[in-house]
Amino acid sequence: MENLTLTSQDQKLAHLKEQLINYREKVLGYPISSDFNFSELYPFLEFSINNIGDPFEDCNYKVQTTNLEREVISFFAELFNADPNDYWGYITNGGSENNLCGLHIARKLYPNAIVYYADAAHYSVPKSIDILNMKSCVIATTFSGEMDYADLEDKLFANKDNPAVFSLNFGTTMTEAKDNVAQAKKIIEKCGVKETYIHIDGALSGSFGAFIEPRIPFDFSDGIDSICLSAHKFLGSPMPAGVFITKKSIRDKILRPMEVIDSYDSTVTGSRNGHTPLFLWYNMKKMGVEGLKQRYFDCLEVTNYCVAQLNKIGVECWVNTGGITVFFRETSVALKKKWQLATVEGITHILCMPNVTKQHIDAFIADLVLDKQLEFVN
Ligand SMILES: Cc1ncc(COP(=O)(O)O)c(C=O)c1O
Repeated sequence: MENLTLTSQDQKLAHLKEQLINYREKVLGYPISSDFNFSELYPFLEFSINNIGDPFEDCNYKVQTTNLEREVISFFAELFNADPNDYWGYITNGGSENNLCGLHIARKLYPNAIVYYADAAHYSVPKSIDILNMKSCVIATTFSGEMDYADLEDKLFANKDNPAVFSLNFGTTMTEAKDNVAQAKKIIEKCGVKETYIHIDGALSGSFGAFIEPRIPFDFSDGIDSICLSAHKFLGSPMPAGVFITKKSIRDKILRPMEVIDSYDSTVTGSRNGHTPLFLWYNMKKMGVEGLKQRYFDCLEVTNYCVAQLNKIGVECWVNTGGITVFFRETSVALKKKWQLATVEGITHILCMPNVTKQHIDAFIADLVLDKQLEFVN
């Protein structure tokens, strides 16, 4: 182990802070919100808060924030049109745990089910399927990243006697494409599949899905069984976090008593971060539904600005319905590195997150113009 003197420790910390500040200013390609101030909560870092156990059940360990966790869950349950008497959920470590949780519950209900998911789904979906050793079927997508419903119908019909789990996207990683639950349900009905479970991965767009116009069917009123979002994405959190919501009646089927904590086990991990519910609760209380809606509208304004500026310099770009992700053909490696742009199969994107301003877009566009001139010269 390195023997650090106090000054070199201080230097390392100062250097780290400077690095984080610099890089934070140049994130256009990843869905992170960094426009928060949680300084009022710093005193709570003195506690080892562990929300072990089911947040809706009593537990012997009391250094917990499960009361606030339940408030966050009910806030989103209402936004997702859940039955007020039949919802349940918990705060996870992020989007990957959310998907694992949804598919784990689905497998408990239907051990032999086939999981249908689009090829644009996040890698945590096939990874969870692998961990859970489930059967699966990949569905093609259109250019927008949305599921190809004709392909879904063909593949579902071929296995119509098998229980089916659908892991649908509400905002894919690259293009923020949203699968339409009503379309999927029509196909399920047409194929005559009787036993189904619909999970929605709303990592980014789940947070503002309720405000999208025209509405895209995605919530409990449309017949889903579980839905999730990544809280460090649109909402903003200093550490990764996720929100997972299903029905209480579904949770009751998978609940296991856990004697050591005098409670119940229903979550993917045992010990759970008790600070994230506190941070999310604080955020929710400050924002409220109206604040969240305005946050989304502000992002839409920057999105429209970004599209206009790209078009002005002759760059063809696309935005899916209600999206804050502008996608276009990939840029140079230098720009990709400078602005931390994710690139997949020749496509890159800018995420107009709440901390991304028109000034950020202007700075990026100036770089892009310069880049194109250099490309032309070379
Ligand atoms: C659509 C989608 N689902 C799931 C995830 C996984 O989220 P996390 O990185 O929080 O595990 C992501 C991450 O970007 C995502 O884009």
